Amino acid sequence: MTVGSVLITGGTGYIGSFTALALLEADYEVVVVDNLYNSSEEALNRIESICGKRPHFHNIDVRDEAAFDGVFDAHPHIDSVIHFAALKAVGESSDIPLEYYRTNVGGTISLLSSMTRHNVSNIVFSSSATVYGDATRFPNMIPIPEECPIGPTNPYGRTKSTVESIITDHVQAQRNKLKREGKSFDHWNAAVLRYFNPAGSHPSGIMGEDPQGVPYNLLPLLAQVAIGKREKLLVFGDGRTAISHVGFPYGSRLLTPLTVDYDSSDGTAIRDYIHILDLAAGHLVALNYLRDHHPGVRAWNLGTGKGSTVFHMIKAFSAVVGRDLPYEVVGRREGDVLDLTANPRRANDELKWKAERTLEDACADLWRWTENNPLGYRQTPPENLLEA
Ligand code: NAD
Ligand code: WQD
Repeated sequence: MTVGSVLITGGTGYIGSFTALALLEADYEVVVVDNLYNSSEEALNRIESICGKRPHFHNIDVRDEAAFDGVFDAHPHIDSVIHFAALKAVGESSDIPLEYYRTNVGGTISLLSSMTRHNVSNIVFSSSATVYGDATRFPNMIPIPEECPIGPTNPYGRTKSTVESIITDHVQAQRNKLKREGKSFDHWNAAVLRYFNPAGSHPSGIMGEDPQGVPYNLLPLLAQVAIGKREKLLVFGDGRTAISHVGFPYGSRLLTPLTVDYDSSDGTAIRDYIHILDLAAGHLVALNYLRDHHPGVRAWNLGTGKGSTVFHMIKAFSAVVGRDLPYEVVGRREGDVLDLTANPRRANDELKWKAERTLEDACADLWRWTENNPLGYRQTPPENLLEA
């Protein structure tokens, strides 16, 4: 018996695959669409190894509206969508903004149009803490509540805030239309989930983040240092110098010694790292909330409420690896802000959701995944893990 049928776009990617697993474990039927631009179909095998169930899969591009129509026609029971598929590299978004708008905004318009034609009216959307930009520009907005005015500082972030607006406008228009027609206007609900920094892997060691290109996030980079794929971590911190997003430390030879000088306890920037299993669980409760409470459009922060500095993360990851990991302080990365820590109270109260796992859990799980799968999904995981 399934409790409902859900379409997950981007469902072979990092957060999407863990959410597909959480939904299957909660007895949802799951249909995944993805064009495998930044993921591999192997994620579906790992999901099946863990929970014994497999999502349906269609290799489609979210920019292709007719392809969405085909998927909804093939799976008429789908009643909700969780929309992950997007391009997500902040630096790259400044180089090729049109591609970002085409995929992230255009893809969402295709999806909403096709959903409307097929009477599918619940959507959970992957937004990002990046929509807040620099919340320290306002008094009393750290930790960041959903009421904090948004102000993204890069094209990627602007695609996310634009999609938030498009979803809000479309849900409102659909509800107005249903009301005019004298129909129940409980239909059309959207959860806008603003994630902070997803981290970690599945505790089994067989499922984790496997990006197709070079990683740019702190923990995957630290994992590469630990496994010997990268000599050291560059800590972005010296405010007197800037660093380009491709990693070339402008001016780092000119000013020595470089130092970390963010206004934090140790001079490095603060982020809210949330375990991927907690993040996936947040999608399940948000989806259930839409189906049970019909709130219209509602935004929720998904974070722990605890900020950690870069140095703290290096220490925590070094502890699970069992040795000090080398790093070098370089200039600040363009667009980085001092503090992105969530105030997760709205999700705690309304969704009855709380991040349960610790940073240490995320580090230990990431290390187990990295050590056992140095080639990610391009290798078979060790037998002992598969049997566990
Ligand atoms: P990911 O790259 O692992 O997953 C995105 C998936 O979308 C990939 O499997 C990719 O192949 C697919 N995709 C990309 N373009 C597509 C297209 N045109 N058609 C079909 N599929 C396409 O990224 P993720 O970290 O799992 O992120 C998922 C969502 O969460 C994204 O919307 C991202 O912007 C958002 N988000 C991510 C983070 C983060 O730090 N990982 C933080 C906040 C928000
Ligand atoms: C974390 C901290 C860096 C790499 C990004 C996106 C955001 C969201 C999550 C999608 C920062 C520092 C990093 C390195 C470092 N994604 N760092 N050396 O920038 O908080 O958020 O991913 O929505 O939109 O911007 O995450 O992991 O890149 O950085 O010192 O080599 O680690 O300066 O303080 P970020 P991150």
